[in-house]
Amino acid sequence: MSTSLASAAGRTSQSTDAAATVRVWDVPTRVFHWSLALCFAGAWLTSDSERLRDLHVMLGYTFAGLIVFRVLWGLVGTRYARFTSFLFSPRRLASYVKSLIARKPEHHLGHNPAGAIAIFAMLGLGVLVVLSGFATYQDIGGKWLEEVHEVTASTMLAVVFAHIVGVIVSSLLHRENLVRSMITGSKLGAPSDGIRHTHRVVGAALLVAVLGFWWAYQSGAAGAWLPQPAAAASERADRHHDD
Ligand code: HEM
Repeated sequence: MSTSLASAAGRTSQSTDAAATVRVWDVPTRVFHWSLALCFAGAWLTSDSERLRDLHVMLGYTFAGLIVFRVLWGLVGTRYARFTSFLFSPRRLASYVKSLIARKPEHHLGHNPAGAIAIFAMLGLGVLVVLSGFATYQDIGGKWLEEVHEVTASTMLAVVFAHIVGVIVSSLLHRENLVRSMITGSKLGAPSDGIRHTHRVVGAALLVAVLGFWWAYQSGAAGAWLPQPAAAASERADRHHDD
């Protein structure tokens, strides 16, 4: 097998198939990715504004739901979406870094070992950001949890920047457009290494769930089943007391 075929075939493949455009990212992973990116950007931009607090909280809830979905999909999803496909040992990571330094980067059809670290960091930090944000909104824990929320969100922003730089650098090194692959779901590889099902129905259901939640939140319908902010609850209690 030629080097280029071996590299296009990805890390796990012993395949001798000719390289072709193959499906790598299923639809739910792509819907998750761009929804998460949108929610993070929106929540960051609205974080300092009292007037936009509701929007910030709505995006925070969506972000939390997306992370829950991704954890489940990491267990039952398609080949390259599963956590087991991008859990690399320190030895694999070291070998990847060496290949970068030697300017002969190992090609991975799914996530590469360095990218995988950023992904786990973003998911882990995401959990801390939403838990501390929820606690702050509910006035649980006081000022220090607000600090945790700010510090974890800023750390996540730094990891997101590193992630974007990593994506650009990998795209240049491998001469493949990774951003496009996260949109189309396809990369160059051996046909036998591609995923068979893209799970459009699950992806569409995820998108409908996100949009449906936004509609319910904006129309006030979600208020009945979401915990109310501490300030609103105490206002209600005061009113009740005055009556
Ligand atoms: C314009 C901004 C962004 C671009 C161009 C981008 C691009 C990408 C690409 C190309 C991948 C696949 C990497 C690979 O081939 O291994 C990826 C994965 C990922 N990105 Fe981004 N990303 C962006 C923003 C974000 C943001 C803001 C977040 C988090 C808030 C994020 C979180 C993730 C996660 C969690 C994955 C893993 C996907 C999965 O397996 O579920 N990305 N991103």
